[in-house]
Amino acid sequence: MEFSKRAQVIMASPTLAITSKAKKMKADGEDVVNFAAGEPFFDTPDQIKQAAIEAIQEGFTKYTPAAGAPFLKRAICQKFRNDNGIDYDENQIVVSCGAKHSLFNIMEILCDEKDEVIFSAPYWVSYPEMVRFAGGQPIIIKTLEKNDFKFKADTLRKYITNKTKILILNSPSNPTGAMYTRDELEEIAEVAVKNNLYVISDEIYEKIIYGSKKHVSIASLGKDIYKRTITVNGVSKTYSMTGWRIGYLGAPEAIASKIKNLQSHSTSNPASISQKAAYAALSCDESIIGNMVSEFNVRRKLMVKGLNSVKGFSCKSPDGAFYCFCNTRETNMNSMDLANKLLKEQKIAVIPGIAFGQEYYLRFSFSCDTEQIEKGISRLREAFAS
Ligand SMILES: Cc1ncc(COP(=O)(O)O)c(C=O)c1O
Repeated sequence: MEFSKRAQVIMASPTLAITSKAKKMKADGEDVVNFAAGEPFFDTPDQIKQAAIEAIQEGFTKYTPAAGAPFLKRAICQKFRNDNGIDYDENQIVVSCGAKHSLFNIMEILCDEKDEVIFSAPYWVSYPEMVRFAGGQPIIIKTLEKNDFKFKADTLRKYITNKTKILILNSPSNPTGAMYTRDELEEIAEVAVKNNLYVISDEIYEKIIYGSKKHVSIASLGKDIYKRTITVNGVSKTYSMTGWRIGYLGAPEAIASKIKNLQSHSTSNPASISQKAAYAALSCDESIIGNMVSEFNVRRKLMVKGLNSVKGFSCKSPDGAFYCFCNTRETNMNSMDLANKLLKEQKIAVIPGIAFGQEYYLRFSFSCDTEQIEKGISRLREAFAS
């Protein structure tokens, strides 16, 4: 088989191996505790489903403009203005089949052969693959737990070369839940602007935050950074709509227009019915999100307390998203071996840190029932008692 050079660099997701194994075990009737989920545990709210049913009944089932239906783009502009303090007009918005698709499109239209794209580890699993597929070179800033898995503008400066083109930011982060403050982002923005970098700001977990920290969109921090930033978001995590596949971006018009062209020759519009559902989601009462975050917060506390009670495990409370990134160095096992062992012996599915570029950590999703957390923690305590 002769594959394209591009196809040859794409690696299988290490997370998939574990999750599909866990699924098979569950299907075979085994009592697997699933801490691997990358999606909210609750159902899509009824009013969102209802909007989709009405879309079907009304015959809203044909092509829409490739970059999204005008009613949805208008709602997204309003969302960006109200929630993020960013002014985009409709021709700066592209709606795609999930934020993953938005990110992929951006990489395809901005990143050339050998361009360097900077992001920090632990990173979301798809960033390196998207960069490589576009022909670019991932440049990874290692961050440390003692620095809350964040990097400073001074560190960023050291990684910039004359080939650096893009910086990817993800706040709140998957897998660490780390959030950048306004001051930190202002300093990063200054470096990005000075060095003519494009910034991709992946804000998919923007609404799932705990405590008093506020989410800040880097594009809102001034005219210069606005002109260089593509802000990515979507409805998957906030409204428990992972299967509906709606993500979107706001960008300088020239960038949005190129992405629109690319999309018009690949997927065309995301599903018309999902667009109606996403519109309903963006028009939802904020209390729906508040209730969900409260539920997550109960699970977060339970998981953090539980993990810290397991011998050899330690983790900090994440500021956002729904994952605990747990330090397991004291077990002296690499993360893949440990994840495999946990699945095989304790029937607990977790994602190994190596999938996120960080060895000796495991990612525990707390997007599950509290009973599952209690059961999983008690199995871990038993397994690592001595
Ligand atoms: C950091 C991050 N960005 C983007 C995505 C993509 O989300 P979706 O394509 O479902 O909108 C995910 C999903 O796991 C994520 O964790």
